[in-house]
Amino acid sequence: MRLSQRLTQVPPYLFAQLDARKAAVVARGVDVIPLGIGDPDLSTPEPIIAEMRQAVGDPSNHRYPDYKGSLSFRQAAARYMLRRFGVTVDPERELLGLIGAKEGLAHLVWALVDPGDVTLCPDPGYPVYAVHTAFCGGFAYRMPLRAEHGFLPELSRIPTEIVERAKILFLNYPNNPTTAVADLEFFEEAVDFCRRYGIVLCHDNAYAEITYDGYHAPSVLEVQGAKDVAIEFHSLSKPFNMTGWRIGFACGNADAIEALGTVKNNTDSGPFTAVQVAAERALTQSEALVASQVSVYRRRRDRMVEALRAAGIAVQPPRGTIYLWCPVPEGETSEGFAGRLLEEAGVFVTPGTGYGQEGEGFFRISLTCSDDRLEEAARRIAALGSGG
Ligand SMILES: Cc1ncc(COP(=O)(O)O)c(C=O)c1O
Repeated sequence: MRLSQRLTQVPPYLFAQLDARKAAVVARGVDVIPLGIGDPDLSTPEPIIAEMRQAVGDPSNHRYPDYKGSLSFRQAAARYMLRRFGVTVDPERELLGLIGAKEGLAHLVWALVDPGDVTLCPDPGYPVYAVHTAFCGGFAYRMPLRAEHGFLPELSRIPTEIVERAKILFLNYPNNPTTAVADLEFFEEAVDFCRRYGIVLCHDNAYAEITYDGYHAPSVLEVQGAKDVAIEFHSLSKPFNMTGWRIGFACGNADAIEALGTVKNNTDSGPFTAVQVAAERALTQSEALVASQVSVYRRRRDRMVEALRAAGIAVQPPRGTIYLWCPVPEGETSEGFAGRLLEEAGVFVTPGTGYGQEGEGFFRISLTCSDDRLEEAARRIAALGSGG
């Protein structure tokens, strides 16, 4: 078969590749502890499941969904934005239901990027931004996220000729994979930057609800006038253990929402209406439903950080996300160390370079495994480090 050029240019999807490698080790009979993909191990909270059970029995929910998301889902999402962030969005013009944030992020690129255009993508970063830019014939300029700058991009250092061709600035805080957080001051700078150069600011806020130690992640739309340039993506996947349900929403600039809606109208038919009904319940009771997930991740984070530090890995406890971003031991590479962890210790982590070359020197651990298995993983990592 002769594949399209766009497909042959794109590297294989990171997680699919890693999964194949893990499967080969499992096939050898190794008990592999999966700390790779950020897919919550806990169940979706019962009130959401109960709502779904009822909604799925209602024949009116079996038909094609409203393309934009049902009005009541959009209203629930708008109420959530107001309650959680103090941000007002019009559910008719400034908010769109999505089949997960990933779908919306990908389709936004199709709405805005022509061949030769530039997008500004974090490195390391969630791969979807750069891959879809390549699909559209655009160029993904990789903005380094470095520890010495709190894993924030230095916008003023992006070359002018790149900025002038840029259509989208992608940001994502709390950040996957570095776990860094951003304050409103940084978002103000980013909004100013995008306004000055006519760039759409796309903030991926998929981890807004998973934060620790009294920290509350802001919305970029809290910045005065942000809606002139910004669109923000929210996901129900991580806070409510709903990765398989495929539901999220985008909100912000009405033109960007309309453009995204046009791509979607011609591509999909929106999320299953029953899932939207259940998601309304999740958004309406978010504080109560998220608290127990966060306390599980906090406990895992604390135990794992302590165990890794005892094993000589100087990891910082994150203020958000479900990950740990860990430095690899002196003298090793990300891929080499992740490969060694898999082959010699049966611990599956993602190498930092899987998210871009600036991820070199790090590996990512996902806290989506039971406490016992995490502790066993820490023991195996310690044994590997000591040669035992
Ligand atoms: C930064 C980031 N954005 C978006 C997503 C995808 O979210 P969803 O499941 O809503 O498509 C993920 C999932 O891992 C992510 O890490």
